[in-house]
Amino acid sequence: MSAERTKIAVFGAGYVGLVTGACFAELGHEVVVRDILADRIEALGRGEVPIYEPGLDELLERNRERLSFTTEVARAIEGTEVVYVAVGTPPTYSGDADLSAVWTVIDELPRVQKRIVVVMKSTVPVGTGEKVRHRLDERGMENVGYVSNPEFTAEGTAVRDFLHPDRIVVGAFDDADGELVERLHAGIDAPVVRADVASAEMTKLAANAALMTRISFINEIANVCEATGADVVKVAEGIGLDRRIGPSFLRAGIGFGGSCFPKDSLALKQLAANSGYHFQLLNAVIEVNELQKRRVIGKLSEQLDRLRGTTVALLGLAFKPDTDDTREAPALVLAGRLLAEGANVRIWDPIARVDGLPGVTQVESVAGALAGADAAVLVTEWPELREIDWGALRSTMRRPVFVDGRNMLDPAEMRALGYAYDAIGRAAG
Ligand SMILES: NC(=O)c1ccc[n+]([C@@H]2O[C@H](COP(=O)([O-])OP(=O)(O)OC[C@H]3O[C@@H](n4cnc5c(N)ncnc54)[C@H](O)[C@@H]3O)[C@@H](O)[C@H]2O)c1
Repeated sequence: MSAERTKIAVFGAGYVGLVTGACFAELGHEVVVRDILADRIEALGRGEVPIYEPGLDELLERNRERLSFTTEVARAIEGTEVVYVAVGTPPTYSGDADLSAVWTVIDELPRVQKRIVVVMKSTVPVGTGEKVRHRLDERGMENVGYVSNPEFTAEGTAVRDFLHPDRIVVGAFDDADGELVERLHAGIDAPVVRADVASAEMTKLAANAALMTRISFINEIANVCEATGADVVKVAEGIGLDRRIGPSFLRAGIGFGGSCFPKDSLALKQLAANSGYHFQLLNAVIEVNELQKRRVIGKLSEQLDRLRGTTVALLGLAFKPDTDDTREAPALVLAGRLLAEGANVRIWDPIARVDGLPGVTQVESVAGALAGADAAVLVTEWPELREIDWGALRSTMRRPVFVDGRNMLDPAEMRALGYAYDAIGRAAG
C-alpha cells in the first residue's frame, strides 16, 4: 500500500495520544493533537513534552512541521479525514470503564460535509462501537465512519511498539473505512488483522487478560516454589524455552500495576458479569495480583518482627521502568500498607514523583534511601539498580534486610555482602 499524506486529528494528548500523533507524523501524515488541558497544549506548542516516554521528545521535535496542538475542536477537525480518540477510560466505582471522555469527544464532533472516520484507540468495552454508531446515526451523521483500532503499545517502549508492532488490529463497520485506517499505517511492516468492531474491541481486552494471566500464573508458581524449596527463576527459564509457552511475561514479582492492566481486567470482569457470565479465571488472576503485592509485607514482618517505628526504603515508584507513570503502582499499595502498620516510608525513583502521599518521603538517591533504614524493597527494576555498589551501602543501613520484589539481583552475591536477602519464589538463603 502506498503512503498517502492524510490529515489526522488525535483527541487526547496523554501517553497514547502523543505517541500516536508523533508516530503518524513520522509516517508522513499531518497531525493535529487536541486536548482539553490548556497548559498541556501550550507546553507542547513550546516544544515541551509533558510525559516521560523514551524517544517521544525526539520524534515530536523531528516532526514539528507536521504536528500542531490545539484545545479547539473546530481547529482539530478542519480538513481532517480521520479522528483518533485517545482519551482516558478509567474505572468507575462499579469497575466498568468510564466512557464519559469518549462520549464528550463523540458529542462534540461537528457535522461535516466530507466523510470523516472516527477511530477508537482508547480501550473500551465490547459494544462501544455499536453504541457510538447508533449515537452518530441518531444525530444524522451517517457520513462519519467508525473504526476500532486498539492500542497494544506498552509504556516505556511505546514509540518502538507503535512503529514495529506485532500486529495491527482494525475492526470496521464499513470496509472502505477499514482500508483507510490500514493505509495510514503504510510504512509499518506488520500483519493486519481485519475484524468486525466487536472482535477488535475484544482483542484488546483479551490480549491484556492473557498477559495478566501469565503474570499471576508465574507468581503463584513462585509462591509454591517458596513453600517447596524450588527456584522460580530456574523454573521460568525451563518452561519459557518450551516453544508452546515462550519466555515473555514469566517473571515472578510483586504483581502488576499501571494504568492499563488493573483497570482493563476490572472492565473485562464487569463486562462479562454485566452480560451474565462469571469470568472465574480472570477473577482469580486479579485476586492473586492483589495478594502478591501484600506478600512483601509478610516477608518484612518476618524479618523485622514488628513494622511499627521501622524505616522502610522503597526502591522504585513507577509501575515499571522507563516511565513516570505511577497509576496503580505496586509501590503505592506497599507504601499504604507500611504506613498503616506504623512504618516510616522513603521512596527513591529516578523519574517518578511522589505526589500527594502524606507520610512518604521522596529521596534523590538509593544511598539516601538506605541510610539508616531497617529494610529496603526493590519495587521497580530500574536498570540503574544493577550499577549500585550494594556492598558499600549495606553498612549504612540500621538493619540490612532486603526484599528483591523483582528478582533482579543475585541472591548469592547479596547474601555474601551481608544482606538478609529475600526475593520472590527463590529459596531463602
Ligand atoms: N497508557 C498506555 O500504555 C495504554 C496502552 C494501550 C491503551 N491505552 C488506552 O488508551 C487510552 C488513553 O490512555 P492514556 O494512558 O494515554 O491516558 P492519559 O490519561 O495519559 O491521557 C488522556 C488524555 O485525554 C485528555 N482528554 C480528556 N477528555 C478529552 C477530550 N474531550 N478531548 C481531548 N482530550 C481529552 C486528557 O486531558 C488526557 O490528557 C485509555 O483508554 C487507555 O486504556 C493506554
